Amino acid sequence: MAYINTLLIMFFVFCFPSMVLSESFRSIQLPPNVTGPESIAFELATGRFYVGVTDGRILQYNGPTVGFVEFGSTGRNRTKTMCDGITDPDLGPMCGRPFGLGFHYATNQLYVCDAYLGLMVLGSGRRLATPLSTGVEGVPYRFCNGLDVHQLSGNVFFTDSTTNYDLRNASKGLESNDSTGRLLMYNPSNNRVTVLLKNLPGPAGVAVSQDGLYALVSNYNANNTIRFWLRGPRADTYEIINFQARPNNIQRTLVGDFWEAAAMVKQSTQTLVPIGQRISGLGLVLQTVNFERWYGNKLISEVQEFRDALYVASPDVDFIGIYSF
Ligand SMILES: *[C@@H]1O[C@H](CO)[C@@H](O)[C@H](O)[C@H]1NC(C)=O
Ligand SMILES: *[C@@H]1O[C@H](CO)[C@@H](O)[C@H](O)[C@H]1NC(C)=O
Ligand SMILES: *[C@@H]1O[C@H](CO)[C@@H](O)[C@H](O)[C@H]1NC(C)=O
Ligand SMILES: *[C@@H]1O[C@H](CO)[C@@H](O)[C@H](O)[C@H]1NC(C)=O
Ligand SMILES: *[C@@H]1O[C@H](CO)[C@@H](O)[C@H](O)[C@H]1NC(C)=O
Repeated sequence: MAYINTLLIMFFVFCFPSMVLSESFRSIQLPPNVTGPESIAFELATGRFYVGVTDGRILQYNGPTVGFVEFGSTGRNRTKTMCDGITDPDLGPMCGRPFGLGFHYATNQLYVCDAYLGLMVLGSGRRLATPLSTGVEGVPYRFCNGLDVHQLSGNVFFTDSTTNYDLRNASKGLESNDSTGRLLMYNPSNNRVTVLLKNLPGPAGVAVSQDGLYALVSNYNANNTIRFWLRGPRADTYEIINFQARPNNIQRTLVGDFWEAAAMVKQSTQTLVPIGQRISGLGLVLQTVNFERWYGNKLISEVQEFRDALYVASPDVDFIGIYSF
């Protein structure tokens, strides 16, 4: 009987491979006139998630019935009339532009790396984020980008992609191979920010390992990902562990490896298409998902695993993608 079953399964795999590789994709549309979800933060218990969008708001997704509701914002001078629905980058410094988002679950604080306004935090019930830090060592953050919270210590790791070019001028930073970015750490017990690494080529994403031994950082301009040691014999040193074009946000999985948003060159056209890569802490590529079918040439900024699906964010679209396989 078992033998017959195996034969049957092999028959189906042979004849209908698509039934076995049942890849599926759906999207959750943002509200009208809202665009550019750059990163996603999940509430573990409820499965609700949060996204930062182009007009400076942080939206909370409550499932298909309720959809997105406004949760908070970062710009102290932000007004709804001036900012809601805008895409004008010159309003960014006033309206805010939340990039990296991450919860510290023990305290239920939502940390925000606002591209223009720096490191901020939203406590439960707070609508307007509280600024925590806008610069360190006398150098202001120019482009706060990726963020991750180490759950055990509460330390917040984040990147300032460059000290020269803000989000509006990011393309100039790319063209000049800018390498003035920094990896930073905020310690909530003394409110201090420490510079862990400087002179990085466009650090975008960051993810700390579960045990807090190291952090992975993606260098967008240089097309590589590094592992920076926080503790142990190699503390304060780093090595390059992966070479993939345009690496962006990095998200830890429950089992301790990582999903990284990136891009690859499509051979036939020599253009970049968006991919997600699951990598180990050693930088070993465990899985690659090509998102071109749904995103075309638009690059993605984040791939995050949650309850057996991949949630995909991109500053260039008006939806959150959900990929299952
Ligand atoms: C969306 O933008 C259009 C054009 O600016 C405007 O007419 C419309 O009222 C907006 N819709 C919402 C829901 O804000
Ligand atoms: C916000 O308003 C205050 C007070 O009017 C002003 O000092 C500050 O420069 C403004 N900030 C921005 C980013 O517009
Ligand atoms: C960045 O862009 C703004 C507005 O587009 C411009 O005013 C500013 O001079 C630019 N800065 C740099 C360093 O390119
Ligand atoms: C930046 O780096 C790329 C790849 O190494 C190189 O082709 C380009 O000339 C560099 N640009 C500048 C302005 O140095
Ligand atoms: C990074 O990758 C992009 C896309 O393949 C390429 O155009 C660029 O020159 C690369 N930059 C460097 C510094 O290698």
